[in-house]
Amino acid sequence: MSITGIKGMNDILPGEVETWQFLEEQARHIFGTYGFSEIRVPVVEKTELFCRSIGETTDIVEKEMYTFNDKSNNSLTLRPEGTAPVMRSFIQNKLHTKDPVAKLYYTGPMFRYERPQKGRYRQFHQIGAEVIGIEDPKIDAQVLTMLSHYFDAVGIEDVELQLNSLGCPECRPAYRQALIGFLEARLEALCDDCRRRYQTNPLRVLDCKATGCKEATAEAPSVLDHLCGGCDEHFSKVQGYLVDVGTPFTINARMVRGLDYYTKTTFEMVTNSLGSQNAVAAGGRYDGLIKDLGGPPLPGIGFAMGVERLVLMKGDKRIEPSRPDLFLAALGDEAANYSFALMSRLQRQGLHAEMDYEGKSLKSQLRRANKLQARRVLIIGGDELARQEAQLRTMETGTQETLSLEGIEKFLLSGLTPAL
Ligand code: HAM
Repeated sequence: MSITGIKGMNDILPGEVETWQFLEEQARHIFGTYGFSEIRVPVVEKTELFCRSIGETTDIVEKEMYTFNDKSNNSLTLRPEGTAPVMRSFIQNKLHTKDPVAKLYYTGPMFRYERPQKGRYRQFHQIGAEVIGIEDPKIDAQVLTMLSHYFDAVGIEDVELQLNSLGCPECRPAYRQALIGFLEARLEALCDDCRRRYQTNPLRVLDCKATGCKEATAEAPSVLDHLCGGCDEHFSKVQGYLVDVGTPFTINARMVRGLDYYTKTTFEMVTNSLGSQNAVAAGGRYDGLIKDLGGPPLPGIGFAMGVERLVLMKGDKRIEPSRPDLFLAALGDEAANYSFALMSRLQRQGLHAEMDYEGKSLKSQLRRANKLQARRVLIIGGDELARQEAQLRTMETGTQETLSLEGIEKFLLSGLTPAL
């Protein structure tokens, strides 16, 4: 029996990969205009990095990490997300000593042992961006505007930017306590999972999909009513700047995030078109994370988009593979050798050219040209070669013209008709 790939880990095949490349190229281009540079970090890190940053009681750390011991018995983990590795690298390479502000982006595979379904995989890909070193709420608005700009640029509509604030170590404990108190009075109505975690991770209960939990928490206290003066002012300013620059958003005070490092602004780009996997991108501020990981006390904010979900949302507006500009159909060995050399010269000069390598009949070569959706076919037979001529067929119109082989290269590259 042949060996298959791993459940929840997908191949990205020709025909699909063009949309991936488009989404990645647009990110490079757009993030570049906002001053971001790419950073590449390994896919494997010490397990401790994720436990300390994402949080011991989160779903990711509790049950979703691909953790293993290497041959030296070090506990390693396939990265479930990109923020912690980027912060680890920022600290380790002392990037703040080179520039007090870092704007970094990354793309690549992430790994979570989740139950696979549409839009949820075990190996998935993120395009993420992080800004380190700026506390001003203008940068929150800038990051959100860049995210919104990206969605416009790649033509993904039907998304809504939802905003919340999760407060800071000063105000969150009081909110947590208020929420635990509220949940305690409604334990009966909660699902087993939530009854187990309402003390360790009460915010997560607000995100539970179980009907009982949803109903029981409908009137739960709002985090926004518990923000301290500083967090409240920060959140108002973020909204003000977003209005100023015309970036649309809504407030969702029930939005909680599945990672513990967030402070103040959090957000999700959500859609109704992907079923329960409704977040296409998500992120927020993490002002304590760099210090918690042993670095300088610098604030940070960022987001990550799920590329598979972006591709799903592109739907039938996917990017088509490139079509050959020219298919060279040769008849006989001599013509094939001539065509092969011509094709190689054209390719070097940037023309997408193809030919047949098996000496097939003209009919069969034309069939292949059709299958490849070649725009033009250059037909060279033995007699034609002797006369230094060739037939150029434009596939769309079916028109055919006789051309001189002299100067044909220039013509094929420029579209000019060489004199016969
Ligand atoms: P996250 O919400 O865990 O945040 O993931 C971000 C995005 O990755 C999600 O909105 C979703 O589009 C995609 N995603 C997550 N899990 C899966 C999965 N199993 N299959 C397919 N797509 C998935 C983070 O990862 C944070 N590091 C984001 C961030 C950056 N916060 C600050 N900076």
